[in-house]
Amino acid sequence: MSPDAKGMAVPPQLALIHKLGSLQPHTWSTGLILRGAALLGLADHLADGPRTGAELAEATGTHPPSLARFLRACAMVGVVERVGSDSYALAETGRLLVSDGPSLRAFVIAVNGPGLMRPWEQVDQALRTGRSVAVDTLGTDLWSYYARHPAEAFQFLESTIPVSRLTALLLTSLIDLSGVGTVVDVGGCPGVMLADLLDSLPAARGVLLDLPAMIPHAEKIIGSHPAADRITFTGGDFLASVPEGGDLYLLKHILGDCDEDAARTVVGHCFAAGAPGSRLLLVDWVTSDEPSFAQVTDIDAMVCCGGRIRTGPELIEMLAEAGYRQVRRLAVPGQENDPLAIIEAVRP
Ligand SMILES: C[S@@+](CC[C@H](N)C(=O)[O-])C[C@H]1O[C@@H](n2cnc3c(N)ncnc32)[C@H](O)[C@@H]1O
Repeated sequence: MSPDAKGMAVPPQLALIHKLGSLQPHTWSTGLILRGAALLGLADHLADGPRTGAELAEATGTHPPSLARFLRACAMVGVVERVGSDSYALAETGRLLVSDGPSLRAFVIAVNGPGLMRPWEQVDQALRTGRSVAVDTLGTDLWSYYARHPAEAFQFLESTIPVSRLTALLLTSLIDLSGVGTVVDVGGCPGVMLADLLDSLPAARGVLLDLPAMIPHAEKIIGSHPAADRITFTGGDFLASVPEGGDLYLLKHILGDCDEDAARTVVGHCFAAGAPGSRLLLVDWVTSDEPSFAQVTDIDAMVCCGGRIRTGPELIEMLAEAGYRQVRRLAVPGQENDPLAIIEAVRP
C-alpha cells in the first residue's frame, strides 16, 4: 500500500477508484448525451435565450422529471449551463448542435447511432479476426443495414453535409476545373458536394452513383438545390462498374470503407470508365504519425466495414498502381498536416 498525504496507507483498490476520473471508462456516454440533446433539438429550443426545465419539457415533448435529470447531464458535457435555480442556457458545445447554419448536430446523431455504434461492441472480435463485425452486431453489412433503416440512413447522409460543403469550396479554389463537362461522383450521396461543384461550373452536368436505397434520400436532400436538375441519379454498385464518360471522377470518403481488394476494384473501375485525360479526385481521411481523430475513424472503418484509413503515400501509390499519372496530394494552405487529404490524378 502506498502512503497518502498524512502518511496513512491507501488501499490499492481505493487508488484504482481515484483513477476512474482520468480513465473515463464511460466516455461513450458523452456522445450519447450529445446525441440525445441533438435529437430533442435542445439547442434550437434555447437559441432565443434561457428557459426553465418545465418550458423545455413542453417544447421537446418530454417527461419533465426525466428531462430535468438529463439537463444536469447535459450541463456536465457543456451542452447547457444552469442559470438561476431551474433555468438553462445554451453553452459552448451546445451551440454546435443548432440545426440552422454550420452545425455538428447531424454528425453527433449519426456517429452515435446504432449503425455506427453497435459494431464497436465487438471491437475485440474485429481485432482477433481482422474483419468487420457489422454482420455479427447489425445482422448485415452496414449499407444493407441502412437500406433496412431508412430514417437512420437519412441521418447518416445528413451528417456528411458540412464536410461535403467544405470540400466543394476547397476543390473550386485549389483546382482549375474549367473545361470539365461531366463530373461523376462515385458513392456520392447525398450529392451536396457534387451540386455545390456544379454551381461553379454552369455548363457542366453531374452523375451521382450510389446504392439504389440511398438515391431517394439524396433526391430529397438536394432536390431544391439550384444545380439539382443537372444531376443524373444512378442506383448501382461501384464494385461492379462506374458510369463512363466522366471528365472528372470524385471518390470522397469511399476508400476508407473498403478493404484492399474493394479499394483497388473501385479505383480500377474509375480508371476504366474515364477517357484519356480525365481526372480522378480522391478525398479521404488519412492517418499519419500525428495523433488525430483519423486514428479513431480508422477503427470505425475496421469494425463497421472492414475498411482502413490509409496514409497519404499509400493512397498515392494505389492510384499510381492503377495506372494514373501525375498523382499528387494538393496542398491545402494552413492544413498541411490535416487528416483530410485531397489527391488529384490524371488518366493517361
Ligand atoms: C462514407 S459515405 C461517403 C458519401 C459521400 N461520398 C461523402 O463523402 O459524403 C459512403 C457512400 O458510399 C455508398 N456506397 C457504399 N457501398 C457502395 C457500393 N457498393 N456501390 C455504390 N455506392 C456505395 C454509400 O451508400 C454512401 O453513400
